[in-house]
Amino acid sequence: MQKLVINGGIPLDGEMPLYGAKNSALPLLAASLLCGEETVLENCPRLTDVFAACRILTHTGCRCTMQEHTVSVRADAIVRSEIPESLMQEMRSSIVFLGALLGRTGACQVYYPGGCELGPRPIDLHLEALGRMGVQIVRQEGRLECSAPNGLHGAQIHLKFPSVGATENVMLAAVLAKGETVLCNAAREPEICDLADFLRKCGARISGDGESTIRIQGVSALKGCVHRIRPDRIAGLTYLCAGAITGGMVKLCGTSGVQMENVLPVLEQAGCRIDRTEHAVYLRAPRRLRAVSRLRTMPHPGFPTDVQAIMMAVMTLAKGVSVFEENIFENRYRHVDGLVQMGAEICVSGRVAVVSGVQELYGARVAATDLRGGAALVLAGLAARGTTEVRQIHHIDRGYEEMEQVLKGAGACISRRAQ
Ligand code: UD1
Repeated sequence: MQKLVINGGIPLDGEMPLYGAKNSALPLLAASLLCGEETVLENCPRLTDVFAACRILTHTGCRCTMQEHTVSVRADAIVRSEIPESLMQEMRSSIVFLGALLGRTGACQVYYPGGCELGPRPIDLHLEALGRMGVQIVRQEGRLECSAPNGLHGAQIHLKFPSVGATENVMLAAVLAKGETVLCNAAREPEICDLADFLRKCGARISGDGESTIRIQGVSALKGCVHRIRPDRIAGLTYLCAGAITGGMVKLCGTSGVQMENVLPVLEQAGCRIDRTEHAVYLRAPRRLRAVSRLRTMPHPGFPTDVQAIMMAVMTLAKGVSVFEENIFENRYRHVDGLVQMGAEICVSGRVAVVSGVQELYGARVAATDLRGGAALVLAGLAARGTTEVRQIHHIDRGYEEMEQVLKGAGACISRRAQ
């Protein structure tokens, strides 16, 4: 067990690197199962969730190697289409292997990924959509036996909610299915477009990604490709917010900020100056941030739920009252206790959190309860007076590669220690 120890109060000043998106890397690794030739993913973040996805690939018989930030996968000899419960539980997003395994072998056995820190994690939309493509599903306790006795076929599918994971599973199952799949009310997140770009490079026929209706014409086989994973917009926004909360000046390298357009105006509204170039985003924070108007989390292109906790940390020190409304996950305010322990004034009622900005936060011993909530506590620690210890940082390591090194590079006083 490890913890992060932060001596707060230092305005960040410096450059921060950005790697590929976790939420792209995981479905892309699953997609590599569909290819008859080697696939190479560049700019792959070194995260515990990525390592878990590689273990799943290896378990199925793929040869999967990671060197620095490049992963190579050879899926020419799949020997297993079942994923044991222990591997499914290692990472909640393991469910995205369902569509890929079905697309590749026409049958698979997996386990429910179970609930998670953010509340229940149902997969009814995934299963309903795959059912329309000819997949028969037998549920036995936590186990799902899936098969398509007559092969997978294209279908007209309407998702009741634009679920990211369900959209990815349908895409993965449909690229090698017979005929056309039309997916309505699909998720529009940039990571969906990244997956579609990768699949197209491998020979898939997909159009409409990034819009509400995605059309997929099944093909008989996919070849390999080399693909560079898009920068992680959520990690990038986290680091920009670290600059904002500390009253600092930072340069985020490796992105033009094009996929951050639903959040950068919020930072500007708070008084930050943002400048963008083709390869970097610059942020200069004001002496004191201002509260922002009500932030409602929504599916893309709305305000991302993954940035809610992080922006809340920033607003704890802003002048005025900010209101957050969490509309995607039931249980996504677990970071509030830690922030309050550090002196924040936050009142939660159902899906609404009201933050009254304070002049100062104080260092405290707190624990990460989930990935983004953990990042929010680190940000608060960077701005707080005194020393903050953030425990349970395995949550943070799921989605941020060596966060403390990135922050140290911009002048933060932060170190990783045994808990
Ligand atoms: C993905 C992201 C996660 C992000 C989330 C929402 C990855 C690896 N993770 O998660 O970081 O926070 O999108 O942007 O890409 N739902 C159902 N039934 C289903 C599926 C989903 O009710 O079958 C509900 C969920 O409980 C949740 C909401 O829909 O309340 C959104 O879930 P979804 O878009 O599927 O998120 P994930 O793909 O799990």
